[in-house]
Amino acid sequence: MEYSIEIDKLTKIFNGKVKAVDAVSLKIKKGEIYGLLGQNGAGKSTLIKMLTGSLKPTSGSAKIAGFDLMDDSMKIRRITGVVPQDLTTDGDLSGRENLKLIADLYDIPKKEALERIDVLLHMVDLYDVRDRHAENYSGGMRKRLELACGLMNTPEVLFLDEPTLGLDVTTREHLWKYIRAVQKEFGITIILTSHYLDEVDALANELSIIDHGKIVISGTSDELKKSLKGDIITLRVKSNKEYEVLQGFPEAIEIKRMETGDIRMKVNNSDEVLPKLMKFLSGHGISPESINIRKPSLDEVFIEYTGRNIDSEAGNVDYAKLMMTRR
Ligand SMILES: Nc1ncnc2c1ncn2[C@@H]1O[C@H](COP(=O)(O)OP(=O)(O)OP(=O)(O)O)[C@@H](O)[C@H]1O
Ligand SMILES: [Mg+2]
Repeated sequence: MEYSIEIDKLTKIFNGKVKAVDAVSLKIKKGEIYGLLGQNGAGKSTLIKMLTGSLKPTSGSAKIAGFDLMDDSMKIRRITGVVPQDLTTDGDLSGRENLKLIADLYDIPKKEALERIDVLLHMVDLYDVRDRHAENYSGGMRKRLELACGLMNTPEVLFLDEPTLGLDVTTREHLWKYIRAVQKEFGITIILTSHYLDEVDALANELSIIDHGKIVISGTSDELKKSLKGDIITLRVKSNKEYEVLQGFPEAIEIKRMETGDIRMKVNNSDEVLPKLMKFLSGHGISPESINIRKPSLDEVFIEYTGRNIDSEAGNVDYAKLMMTRR
Protein backbone atom coordinates (compact mmCIF):
# COMPACT_ATOMS: atom_id res chain seq x y z
CA MET A 1 0.00 0.00 0.00
CA GLU A 2 1.35 3.34 -0.99
CA TYR A 3 0.78 6.19 1.40
CA SER A 4 0.80 9.78 0.38
CA ILE A 5 0.95 11.07 3.92
CA GLU A 6 2.31 9.41 7.04
CA ILE A 7 1.93 11.34 10.25
CA ASP A 8 3.62 10.18 13.43
CA LYS A 9 2.60 11.64 16.80
CA LEU A 10 2.42 15.18 15.45
CA THR A 11 1.80 17.63 18.28
CA LYS A 12 1.34 21.37 18.58
CA ILE A 13 1.28 23.14 21.90
CA PHE A 14 0.67 26.89 21.78
CA ASN A 15 2.29 29.10 24.40
CA GLY A 16 3.41 26.07 26.35
CA LYS A 17 -0.13 25.25 27.38
CA VAL A 18 -2.77 24.96 24.63
CA LYS A 19 -2.46 21.45 23.19
CA ALA A 20 -4.13 22.13 19.85
CA VAL A 21 -2.93 18.92 18.20
CA ASP A 22 -2.18 16.01 20.47
CA ALA A 23 0.03 13.20 19.15
CA VAL A 24 -1.86 12.68 15.89
CA SER A 25 -0.77 9.64 13.89
CA LEU A 26 -2.37 8.93 10.53
CA LYS A 27 -1.70 7.21 7.25
CA ILE A 28 -3.40 8.56 4.17
CA LYS A 29 -3.46 6.51 0.99
CA LYS A 30 -2.36 7.90 -2.31
CA GLY A 31 -5.15 9.24 -4.51
CA GLU A 32 -7.91 9.29 -1.94
CA ILE A 33 -10.00 12.05 -0.45
CA TYR A 34 -9.40 11.96 3.28
CA GLY A 35 -11.74 13.79 5.63
CA LEU A 36 -10.85 15.32 8.98
CA LEU A 37 -14.06 15.94 10.83
CA GLY A 38 -14.19 17.99 13.99
CA GLN A 39 -15.91 20.78 15.87
CA ASN A 40 -14.65 24.36 16.10
CA GLY A 41 -11.33 24.37 17.85
CA ALA A 42 -10.73 20.64 17.39
CA GLY A 43 -7.30 21.33 15.90
CA LYS A 44 -8.00 20.78 12.20
CA SER A 45 -6.43 23.99 10.89
CA THR A 46 -3.44 23.63 13.19
CA LEU A 47 -2.81 20.16 11.81
CA ILE A 48 -3.09 21.40 8.22
CA LYS A 49 -0.83 24.36 8.95
CA MET A 50 1.84 22.03 10.29
CA LEU A 51 1.56 19.72 7.30
CA THR A 52 1.83 22.61 4.87
CA GLY A 53 4.82 24.14 6.59
CA SER A 54 3.23 27.32 7.87
CA LEU A 55 3.43 26.23 11.50
CA LYS A 56 6.29 24.44 13.24
CA PRO A 57 5.27 21.30 15.14
CA THR A 58 6.12 21.10 18.83
CA SER A 59 6.99 17.43 18.37
CA GLY A 60 6.36 14.46 16.14
CA SER A 61 7.06 13.97 12.47
CA ALA A 62 5.38 13.53 9.11
CA LYS A 63 6.18 12.48 5.60
CA ILE A 64 4.42 13.86 2.57
CA ALA A 65 4.94 11.98 -0.70
CA GLY A 66 7.99 10.46 0.95
CA PHE A 67 9.50 13.82 1.95
CA ASP A 68 10.22 14.64 5.54
CA LEU A 69 8.30 17.59 6.94
CA MET A 70 11.36 19.02 8.69
CA ASP A 71 14.17 18.16 6.30
CA ASP A 72 12.49 18.62 2.93
CA SER A 73 10.16 21.53 3.55
CA MET A 74 11.03 23.25 0.27
CA LYS A 75 10.26 20.10 -1.72
CA ILE A 76 7.00 19.68 0.15
CA ARG A 77 5.99 23.22 -0.70
CA ARG A 78 6.50 22.45 -4.38
CA ILE A 79 4.38 19.35 -4.46
CA THR A 80 1.53 20.40 -2.18
CA GLY A 81 -1.30 22.79 -2.75
CA VAL A 82 -3.30 24.40 0.01
CA VAL A 83 -6.58 26.21 0.23
CA PRO A 84 -6.57 27.73 3.72
CA GLN A 85 -9.69 28.28 5.77
CA ASP A 86 -9.58 32.05 5.27
CA LEU A 87 -9.68 33.63 1.83
CA THR A 88 -6.25 34.30 0.39
CA THR A 89 -7.17 35.68 -3.01
CA ASP A 90 -6.92 39.41 -3.58
CA GLY A 91 -10.29 41.06 -4.15
CA ASP A 92 -8.74 43.94 -6.07
CA LEU A 93 -7.39 41.55 -8.67
CA SER A 94 -9.34 39.60 -11.23
CA GLY A 95 -9.60 35.84 -11.06
CA ARG A 96 -7.00 35.49 -13.77
CA GLU A 97 -4.63 38.00 -12.15
CA ASN A 98 -4.84 36.11 -8.88
CA LEU A 99 -3.82 32.92 -10.64
CA LYS A 100 -0.96 34.73 -12.42
CA LEU A 101 0.31 35.93 -9.07
CA ILE A 102 0.45 32.37 -7.76
CA ALA A 103 2.17 31.22 -10.95
CA ASP A 104 4.86 33.86 -10.37
CA LEU A 105 5.31 32.72 -6.78
CA TYR A 106 6.06 29.23 -8.05
CA ASP A 107 8.26 30.51 -10.92
CA ILE A 108 6.13 28.75 -13.49
CA PRO A 109 7.31 29.72 -17.01
CA LYS A 110 4.95 32.25 -18.58
CA LYS A 111 3.61 30.17 -21.46
CA GLU A 112 2.99 27.16 -19.27
CA ALA A 113 1.37 29.37 -16.65
CA LEU A 114 -1.05 30.96 -19.12
CA GLU A 115 -2.09 27.59 -20.47
CA ARG A 116 -2.58 26.20 -17.03
CA ILE A 117 -4.56 29.23 -15.89
CA ASP A 118 -7.01 28.71 -18.74
CA VAL A 119 -7.38 25.01 -17.94
CA LEU A 120 -8.04 25.79 -14.29
CA LEU A 121 -10.45 28.63 -15.04
CA HIS A 122 -12.45 26.27 -17.24
CA MET A 123 -12.29 23.55 -14.67
CA VAL A 124 -13.87 25.67 -11.93
CA ASP A 125 -16.24 27.36 -14.38
CA LEU A 126 -14.81 30.83 -13.95
CA TYR A 127 -13.50 31.32 -17.44
CA ASP A 128 -16.31 33.66 -18.43
CA VAL A 129 -15.74 35.87 -15.38
CA ARG A 130 -11.94 35.60 -15.40
CA ASP A 131 -11.43 39.36 -15.76
CA ARG A 132 -13.90 40.38 -13.07
CA HIS A 133 -12.47 41.54 -9.72
CA ALA A 134 -12.53 38.70 -7.23
CA GLU A 135 -14.31 40.89 -4.68
CA ASN A 136 -17.29 40.90 -7.03
CA TYR A 137 -17.47 37.12 -7.16
CA SER A 138 -20.21 35.32 -5.26
CA GLY A 139 -19.15 33.29 -2.19
CA GLY A 140 -19.12 30.07 -4.18
CA MET A 141 -17.19 31.61 -7.10
CA ARG A 142 -14.59 32.99 -4.72
CA LYS A 143 -14.11 29.57 -3.13
CA ARG A 144 -13.75 28.03 -6.59
CA LEU A 145 -11.06 30.58 -7.37
CA GLU A 146 -9.29 29.60 -4.15
CA LEU A 147 -9.50 25.98 -5.26
CA ALA A 148 -7.95 26.85 -8.62
CA CYS A 149 -5.16 28.77 -6.82
CA GLY A 150 -4.41 25.69 -4.74
CA LEU A 151 -3.97 23.71 -7.97
CA MET A 152 -1.71 26.17 -9.77
CA ASN A 153 1.51 24.27 -8.98
CA THR A 154 0.04 20.88 -10.12
CA PRO A 155 0.27 19.48 -6.60
CA GLU A 156 0.44 15.79 -5.75
CA VAL A 157 -1.29 16.50 -2.48
CA LEU A 158 -3.97 19.13 -1.95
CA PHE A 159 -5.09 20.40 1.45
CA LEU A 160 -8.54 21.93 1.68
CA ASP A 161 -9.27 23.54 5.03
CA GLU A 162 -13.04 23.94 5.35
CA PRO A 163 -13.58 24.41 1.62
CA THR A 164 -17.27 25.26 1.90
CA LEU A 165 -17.40 27.07 5.22
CA GLY A 166 -20.20 29.58 5.43
CA LEU A 167 -21.72 28.79 2.05
CA ASP A 168 -25.37 27.89 1.68
CA VAL A 169 -26.31 24.24 1.22
CA THR A 170 -26.81 24.39 -2.54
CA THR A 171 -23.53 26.19 -3.15
CA ARG A 172 -21.73 23.74 -0.88
CA GLU A 173 -23.05 20.76 -2.81
CA HIS A 174 -22.11 22.50 -6.02
CA LEU A 175 -18.53 22.89 -4.81
CA TRP A 176 -18.31 19.19 -3.98
CA LYS A 177 -18.69 18.53 -7.68
CA TYR A 178 -15.48 20.49 -8.37
CA ILE A 179 -13.59 18.80 -5.56
CA ARG A 180 -14.55 15.38 -6.93
CA ALA A 181 -13.57 16.46 -10.44
CA VAL A 182 -10.16 17.65 -9.22
CA GLN A 183 -9.51 14.33 -7.52
CA LYS A 184 -10.63 12.38 -10.55
CA GLU A 185 -8.92 14.38 -13.28
CA PHE A 186 -5.61 14.96 -11.51
CA GLY A 187 -5.62 11.76 -9.45
CA ILE A 188 -4.21 13.65 -6.48
CA THR A 189 -4.56 13.02 -2.78
CA ILE A 190 -6.91 15.46 -1.10
CA ILE A 191 -7.06 16.12 2.62
CA LEU A 192 -10.19 17.94 3.51
CA THR A 193 -11.22 19.32 6.88
CA SER A 194 -14.80 20.09 7.68
CA HIS A 195 -17.29 20.33 10.46
CA TYR A 196 -20.05 19.44 8.05
CA LEU A 197 -20.91 15.77 8.47
CA ASP A 198 -22.68 15.58 5.14
CA GLU A 199 -19.65 16.99 3.37
CA VAL A 200 -17.25 14.43 4.77
CA ASP A 201 -19.80 11.67 4.19
CA ALA A 202 -20.28 12.74 0.58
CA LEU A 203 -16.65 13.31 -0.36
CA ALA A 204 -14.26 11.33 1.77
CA ASN A 205 -13.14 7.76 1.03
CA GLU A 206 -11.83 7.62 4.58
CA LEU A 207 -12.08 9.93 7.52
CA SER A 208 -10.95 10.62 11.04
CA ILE A 209 -12.88 12.34 13.75
CA ILE A 210 -10.65 14.79 15.56
CA ASP A 211 -11.68 15.98 19.00
CA HIS A 212 -9.64 18.17 21.37
CA GLY A 213 -6.61 17.67 19.16
CA LYS A 214 -6.82 13.89 19.19
CA ILE A 215 -7.95 11.40 16.57
CA VAL A 216 -10.77 9.50 18.23
CA ILE A 217 -11.67 7.14 15.38
CA SER A 218 -10.68 6.53 11.76
CA GLY A 219 -12.09 4.48 8.92
CA THR A 220 -14.46 4.62 6.00
CA SER A 221 -17.83 6.17 6.65
CA ASP A 222 -19.43 2.72 6.36
CA GLU A 223 -16.97 1.15 8.76
CA LEU A 224 -17.65 3.85 11.32
CA LYS A 225 -21.41 3.46 10.94
CA LYS A 226 -21.11 -0.31 11.28
CA SER A 227 -18.97 0.13 14.38
CA LEU A 228 -22.04 1.49 16.13
CA LYS A 229 -23.47 -2.04 16.05
CA GLY A 230 -27.12 -1.14 16.12
CA ASP A 231 -29.84 1.47 15.78
CA ILE A 232 -30.12 4.32 18.21
CA ILE A 233 -33.19 5.30 20.16
CA THR A 234 -33.06 8.61 21.97
CA LEU A 235 -35.62 9.33 24.65
CA ARG A 236 -36.26 12.60 26.38
CA VAL A 237 -37.48 11.94 29.89
CA LYS A 238 -38.22 14.10 32.89
CA SER A 239 -35.91 12.71 35.54
CA ASN A 240 -33.14 10.38 36.49
CA LYS A 241 -35.67 7.97 37.96
CA GLU A 242 -36.95 7.09 34.52
CA TYR A 243 -33.39 6.52 33.39
CA GLU A 244 -32.90 4.01 36.18
CA VAL A 245 -36.06 2.17 35.23
CA LEU A 246 -35.07 2.13 31.56
CA GLN A 247 -31.82 0.43 32.42
CA GLY A 248 -33.93 -2.62 33.08
CA PHE A 249 -35.20 -2.72 29.50
CA PRO A 250 -33.96 -6.10 28.27
CA GLU A 251 -33.58 -5.23 24.56
CA ALA A 252 -31.11 -2.41 25.15
CA ILE A 253 -27.58 -3.36 24.14
CA GLU A 254 -26.25 -0.22 25.71
CA ILE A 255 -27.86 2.67 27.51
CA LYS A 256 -26.37 6.03 28.41
CA ARG A 257 -27.48 9.34 29.81
CA MET A 258 -26.18 12.17 27.65
CA GLU A 259 -24.97 15.60 28.79
CA THR A 260 -28.26 16.97 27.50
CA GLY A 261 -30.15 14.65 29.85
CA ASP A 262 -31.48 12.54 26.98
CA ILE A 263 -31.26 8.78 27.20
CA ARG A 264 -29.43 7.14 24.33
CA MET A 265 -30.08 3.49 23.82
CA LYS A 266 -28.62 1.09 21.30
CA VAL A 267 -30.75 -1.75 20.03
CA ASN A 268 -30.30 -4.42 17.37
CA ASN A 269 -33.32 -3.71 15.25
CA SER A 270 -35.37 -0.66 16.12
CA ASP A 271 -38.37 -1.82 14.06
CA GLU A 272 -38.75 -4.90 16.21
CA VAL A 273 -37.74 -3.30 19.48
CA LEU A 274 -39.94 -0.23 19.33
CA PRO A 275 -43.28 -1.98 20.10
CA LYS A 276 -41.59 -3.74 23.02
CA LEU A 277 -40.17 -0.48 24.26
CA MET A 278 -43.58 1.19 24.11
CA LYS A 279 -45.04 -1.65 26.15
CA PHE A 280 -42.20 -1.44 28.65
CA LEU A 281 -42.65 2.31 29.00
CA SER A 282 -46.38 2.17 29.54
CA GLY A 283 -45.96 -0.80 31.88
CA HIS A 284 -43.75 1.37 34.08
CA GLY A 285 -45.91 4.45 33.73
CA ILE A 286 -43.26 6.36 31.78
CA SER A 287 -44.30 8.78 29.07
CA PRO A 288 -41.24 10.32 27.44
CA GLU A 289 -41.45 13.82 26.00
CA SER A 290 -40.00 12.53 22.78
CA ILE A 291 -38.68 9.38 21.18
CA ASN A 292 -36.30 9.54 18.27
CA ILE A 293 -35.14 6.52 16.27
CA ARG A 294 -32.14 6.67 14.05
CA LYS A 295 -30.31 4.21 11.88
CA PRO A 296 -26.51 4.48 12.08
CA SER A 297 -25.37 7.77 10.51
CA LEU A 298 -22.26 9.86 10.73
CA ASP A 299 -24.12 12.09 13.20
CA GLU A 300 -24.53 9.11 15.48
CA VAL A 301 -20.91 8.11 14.93
CA PHE A 302 -19.81 11.56 16.03
CA ILE A 303 -21.97 11.41 19.15
CA GLU A 304 -20.76 7.91 19.96
CA TYR A 305 -17.09 8.83 19.86
CA THR A 306 -17.11 12.38 21.21
CA GLY A 307 -20.17 12.27 23.47
CA ARG A 308 -21.50 15.38 21.75
CA ASN A 309 -23.46 16.58 18.77
CA ILE A 310 -21.30 18.28 16.19
CA ASP A 311 -23.76 21.18 16.45
CA SER A 312 -22.42 22.99 13.47
CA GLU A 313 -25.30 23.43 11.11
CA ALA A 314 -29.06 23.62 11.12
CA GLY A 315 -29.51 19.94 10.31
CA ASN A 316 -27.52 18.90 13.33
CA VAL A 317 -28.75 21.38 15.85
CA ASP A 318 -30.50 19.99 18.87
CA TYR A 319 -33.71 21.96 18.39
CA ALA A 320 -35.20 21.14 21.75
CA LYS A 321 -32.11 22.49 23.49
CA LEU A 322 -32.11 25.53 21.28
CA MET A 323 -35.73 26.25 22.14
CA MET A 324 -34.99 25.89 25.81
CA THR A 325 -32.14 28.37 25.73
CA ARG A 326 -34.18 30.81 23.68
CA ARG A 327 -37.14 30.81 26.00
N1 LIG B 1 -1.80 30.88 17.03
C1 LIG B 1 -2.44 30.34 18.06
N2 LIG B 1 -2.11 30.66 19.33
C2 LIG B 1 -2.76 30.10 20.38
N3 LIG B 1 -3.75 29.19 20.27
C3 LIG B 1 -4.11 28.83 19.03
C4 LIG B 1 -3.49 29.38 17.86
N4 LIG B 1 -4.07 28.83 16.77
C5 LIG B 1 -5.01 27.98 17.23
N5 LIG B 1 -5.04 27.98 18.58
C6 LIG B 1 -5.92 27.15 19.43
O1 LIG B 1 -5.75 25.81 19.05
C7 LIG B 1 -7.00 25.11 19.09
C8 LIG B 1 -7.28 24.51 17.75
O2 LIG B 1 -7.53 25.52 16.79
P1 LIG B 1 -7.73 25.23 15.25
O3 LIG B 1 -7.85 26.53 14.55
O4 LIG B 1 -6.69 24.29 14.80
O5 LIG B 1 -9.14 24.48 15.26
P2 LIG B 1 -10.09 24.08 14.06
O6 LIG B 1 -10.44 22.65 14.27
O7 LIG B 1 -9.48 24.45 12.77
O8 LIG B 1 -11.37 24.97 14.34
P3 LIG B 1 -12.43 25.66 13.32
O9 LIG B 1 -13.41 24.60 12.95
O10 LIG B 1 -13.04 26.72 14.13
O11 LIG B 1 -11.65 26.18 12.14
C9 LIG B 1 -8.02 26.13 19.55
O12 LIG B 1 -8.18 25.99 20.93
C10 LIG B 1 -7.38 27.45 19.20
O13 LIG B 1 -7.83 28.46 20.05
MG1 LIG C 1 -10.06 25.60 11.25
